[in-house]
Amino acid sequence: MLFYLYLFTFGLFFLFLFLFVKQLQLLIEHVIQSRSTERASMAANNLSVAPVATQFNGGVSNRFLDKLLSFMVNSPLYRNYAAKLSASPAIATLETMLGTDSNEQEANPNQKKKVLACPICYDTLIWNGDPVFSVDSTPRSILKCSICKKSYSGNETHLDLTVASGTKKYGEYKPASSELFRLPIVSFLYERGWRQGFSIWGGYPGPQKEYEMMKDYLDPVIGGNIIDASCGSGMFSRLFQKSGLFSLVVALDYSESMLKQCYDFIKQEENISNENLILVRADIARLPFASSSIDAVHAGAALHCWPSLSAGVAEINRILRPGGVFVATTYIVDGPYSFIPFLSVIRETLGQVTGSRIFLSESELKDLCKTYGLVDITCVRNRQFVMISARKPA
Ligand SMILES: C[S@@+](CC[C@H](N)C(=O)[O-])C[C@H]1O[C@@H](n2cnc3c(N)ncnc32)[C@H](O)[C@@H]1O
Repeated sequence: MLFYLYLFTFGLFFLFLFLFVKQLQLLIEHVIQSRSTERASMAANNLSVAPVATQFNGGVSNRFLDKLLSFMVNSPLYRNYAAKLSASPAIATLETMLGTDSNEQEANPNQKKKVLACPICYDTLIWNGDPVFSVDSTPRSILKCSICKKSYSGNETHLDLTVASGTKKYGEYKPASSELFRLPIVSFLYERGWRQGFSIWGGYPGPQKEYEMMKDYLDPVIGGNIIDASCGSGMFSRLFQKSGLFSLVVALDYSESMLKQCYDFIKQEENISNENLILVRADIARLPFASSSIDAVHAGAALHCWPSLSAGVAEINRILRPGGVFVATTYIVDGPYSFIPFLSVIRETLGQVTGSRIFLSESELKDLCKTYGLVDITCVRNRQFVMISARKPA
């Protein structure tokens, strides 16, 4: 009974959280909009700009929001966190250990050119010029599929390789567990406190430790390319790139605002090269990469957010080359639902409403990877946190 209540409360919490952040975002957008309109008219009239609180009805709440946001960005918690990420001892250790240099590890350039594929038919995409793999140049490229004849391009931050890219009227919506992360406010807050919360209530060791934990699994594919699937604001993409251990790092996410945030962090961070790092918008269930072309896929804290976990794992298996590595972390809330039929119905309903697969068990996760042909499956647990690794047979 207690567990049933727990499940129900979690579902409601997730829905209310989604509605709450959506409202918060609308409010902030409204504040920003009224601020810039006011600034523009002040500037036109050659007047000085008054503080935001005096420009908008309900100034108290706006002043509060302004203060809240700047407090979060300037908080010691966030600053420490950002500093820790920049000065990664894990990366230093790895670099010393392996004595690697990204130039030495540059994979066959011809092979690299064939990595990006049409998400509709999986045929290799043709670039409008010489292929360039860099944060700034790649989004400005136009890639075309010779079979579908569809062209793919990007904006200033990322290349859009979703199936629906370029549609003018059609808009696609995913379940709440995916849509939540498309809200700019969530993307903004993600690395500014949201992610740290995972350590408190989920047993996540934190990015540095998670990075150290996964390095053993990634050892066999050092020098190859890596996809940081569902990269969010790119904390691991940046770590992979700064390590210099991979010939190409693809920061991939479905959320445009997460990719924008990822781009901003890359631009703000020192000691990070823009080369051999690209930002791609794609759906995990339809990955824009040629089959057997990828050496490693990492998916941090993401499996439980994917609308179809099986479609995601199937795609990862398709794009991995023989011997390629999959390493991921996710939440696991095991419980009596797996053997009490009534509770399993609740679990299914919550999954359908939120789209989240948080109530997955460790054995289900292993079963899924095994069914898709992955081998050497290992799980490391700490409360609800699990790191799973698997390999495509050579
Ligand atoms: C909790 S965040 C994880 C971010 C980061 N990898 C980390 O370790 O903190 C989950 C991410 O999954 C992404 N996501 C959700 N649905 C997706 C989909 N269908 N395809 C690709 N990414 C998706 C979200 O946009 C979000 O950025």
